[in-house]
Amino acid sequence: MAIAKPASRPVNPRFSSGPCAKSPTFTLNSLSDAALGRSHRAAVGKDKLKAAIEKTRDLLKVPADYRIAIVPASDTGAFEMAMWNLLGERPVEMLAWESFGSGWVTDAVKQLKIEADVKTADYGAIVDLASVDWNKDVCFTWNGTTSGVRVPSGDVIPADRQGLTLCDATSAAFAMDLPWDKLDVTTFSWQKVLGGEAAHGMLILSPRAVERLESYTPDRPLPKIFRLTKGGKLIEGIFRGETINTPSMLCVEDYLQALDWARSVGGLQGMIARADRNAAAIAAFVNSHDWIDFLAIDPATRSNTSLCLKFTDDRIIDGASFAKAVAKRLELEGIALDIGAYRDAPPGLRIWCGGTVETSDIEAMLPWLAWAFDNELAAQKAAA
Ligand SMILES: Cc1ncc(COP(=O)(O)O)c(C=O)c1O
Repeated sequence: MAIAKPASRPVNPRFSSGPCAKSPTFTLNSLSDAALGRSHRAAVGKDKLKAAIEKTRDLLKVPADYRIAIVPASDTGAFEMAMWNLLGERPVEMLAWESFGSGWVTDAVKQLKIEADVKTADYGAIVDLASVDWNKDVCFTWNGTTSGVRVPSGDVIPADRQGLTLCDATSAAFAMDLPWDKLDVTTFSWQKVLGGEAAHGMLILSPRAVERLESYTPDRPLPKIFRLTKGGKLIEGIFRGETINTPSMLCVEDYLQALDWARSVGGLQGMIARADRNAAAIAAFVNSHDWIDFLAIDPATRSNTSLCLKFTDDRIIDGASFAKAVAKRLELEGIALDIGAYRDAPPGLRIWCGGTVETSDIEAMLPWLAWAFDNELAAQKAAA
């Protein structure tokens, strides 16, 4: 018998994995203090950029001797900037277990022509981190947004490593504890866990990463947009908010508002707890339905932000079109937007659970998922 449409609906159906939902209290009016039409080099603009850096430091508990910069081109810009500036001084290991990590492998190996030791794992699995040589430079993604598999703990990274760790933490920052003493380069973008706007990236450097920048000049041209040093010295202004090129002051205002909101819900621990609660609501649903499962094989590696799910019912004839049709039904009902699996990932769903998403919305959406599954099975049968 077909399930009837559930009575209640999510207040906010936005479960996209990027750009992610704005905070529940967001309104366009909250941006009315933006320094619009003003120079980002004027005191008002500089102060806001500096505040964005310092509030980030405060919320994420970034050590005082780490540098933080706002850079162009979002997380992609920040991570590319790190690889282009730093890699080549010593052997490199590239780790990847989903699409974004694989993208960094391609760029390091094919574009930068780095002779890297490449370690990969299939969607759902993770590279054996114990087998990594941390005396090399190691590039990896903390949370694989397209597989929902994250690094379970930084304990495996030795404190006395010789190499640098370059960590893409786009879908991890503000949702997971990041062990700063184990991370030399950390990047993320505003558009993920904080629900900020795209196109601005954050680059966080340990003192050892700065030391490398000042002692190693890569044998490759560096466009102005990537340059962090001048005459062998770090351009310190970049880390005080004197951005390389012009940022959007509207996006800066939005980021400041998002940081203030994150503080108001308990800061980093509050944000982690919100993501954990959302992920727990999904886990309870998965555990009580035998036709759906996590893509992440090991529960210890299961993300609390980008939850990737697969349909496991053997009555399903075409997995890819079935998953797409379920996502489409939920979208057409206005229940869940943008929850189809990433284009390169195995068929399924990806539901964003970062802190800007309300648990009540996840809970209201899940009965609809059961409804959509049931109806899609019925539609498949009718078409057979
Ligand atoms: C792990 C990871 N890295 C990089 C990116 C690219 O981020 P951006 O588009 O902000 O540059 C994303 C976006 O989803 C991501 O999830």
